[in-house]
Amino acid sequence: MEYLLKTYRTFFGMKGELKRIFSPYRICPLGAHVDHQHGLVSGFAFNSGIEFLFSANDNGMVEMCSLSFDGLTTFSVRRAVEEKQNNWGDYLRGAVWALQKDYDLKNGVCGVVSGSMPIGGLSSSAALLCGFVMALGEVNGLNLTKMQLIQYASKAEREYVGLNNGILDQACVVLCEADKLLFLDTETSEYKLLPFGDGKSDGLPFKIGIFFSGVTRKLTGTDYNLRVSECKTAAWIMQAYEDIPLKGMEMTRLRDVDEQLFGKYEQRMPERFAKRARHFYSECDRVRQGVKAWQHGDIEGFGKLIFESCESSIHNYECGSPELIALYEIMRNTDGIYGGRFSGAGFKGACIALVNPEKEEAVRENVSRKYLERFPQYRESFRAFFCEPDNGVRLVDVSSEK
Ligand code: GLA
Repeated sequence: MEYLLKTYRTFFGMKGELKRIFSPYRICPLGAHVDHQHGLVSGFAFNSGIEFLFSANDNGMVEMCSLSFDGLTTFSVRRAVEEKQNNWGDYLRGAVWALQKDYDLKNGVCGVVSGSMPIGGLSSSAALLCGFVMALGEVNGLNLTKMQLIQYASKAEREYVGLNNGILDQACVVLCEADKLLFLDTETSEYKLLPFGDGKSDGLPFKIGIFFSGVTRKLTGTDYNLRVSECKTAAWIMQAYEDIPLKGMEMTRLRDVDEQLFGKYEQRMPERFAKRARHFYSECDRVRQGVKAWQHGDIEGFGKLIFESCESSIHNYECGSPELIALYEIMRNTDGIYGGRFSGAGFKGACIALVNPEKEEAVRENVSRKYLERFPQYRESFRAFFCEPDNGVRLVDVSSEK
């Protein structure tokens, strides 16, 4: 925080009433790659994320600098937002672009953002977007609800940045509560925040382990969008076999196709599409089973499903890099890890795990040593962190820090 404040003072002097937002990263233990098909997901936000220190700019200008990325992003919220520039500022432009559809924005934001972890699979983009939509709402008095925060951040990422994703990331960043599991139906946006063991247990029996492979990549440059289209094509194929009238691809999702139809046509459709559908139906089922295990206080059962989910990501969804697959295999053979998988889309840099807190150091040592034996080239960039579930994006008091 001190460094953030110093940077703010360097760029903006004593200008403005300071506000601070903390926007957490998220993990998705079960429910990977199904949100864009309107499936069932689960998630935690955790106590590491993006900090914003900012104030209102009554001349309408956004002037934001980042401690993680180069360059000051400047533009006016009173004019139509320009084209994407393929840098981090696109997320800020996207947030304004999405809000401008419904609001006449007057005030800009000047400030500093800082991320606490290297980028890669923890949804730093949703943390940045949700936090910035909240900041814009604050300085313009918009009183945005949680659902609106999710919707505007999601619209910005889908329609401005260009990733055809679902609402998993934004929902975790906004809705999560410490000590609870978010269970969300991405078709209806209905959700529950579930205490572990139905609230009968004392605290949580795990920490969140995060293992950065050292590889980072932007999702818009991966097969992410291709996989989304493959899922939609699988839905189309089944509907066509069944003589169901087809809708445009944009409006077609696997959730619209009954699982029984998959049983009927699984062998007949090309294997590539069958695999994507197999992942979808089995993953939604794992989320249902996982919720039961969680509510029964069965951390082993919950963890086992997370490992199975990663198997399906590798073999049915066919994502992951050699580095991530190696990390997953090491995690499977590490005592003290209940379950683990690729984080996020599995094209970028991190694996996550639920770790027995008593074995944290042994887990760190084992995973790091075995991974670096296989990939010594990542000695400088590999990282292991241990975090805890946390509340969603929020304003934080700055009065003591001025
Ligand atoms: C990324 C996307 C999410 C979701 C996950 C995979 O994080 O942004 O919408 O699809 O991948 O579960």
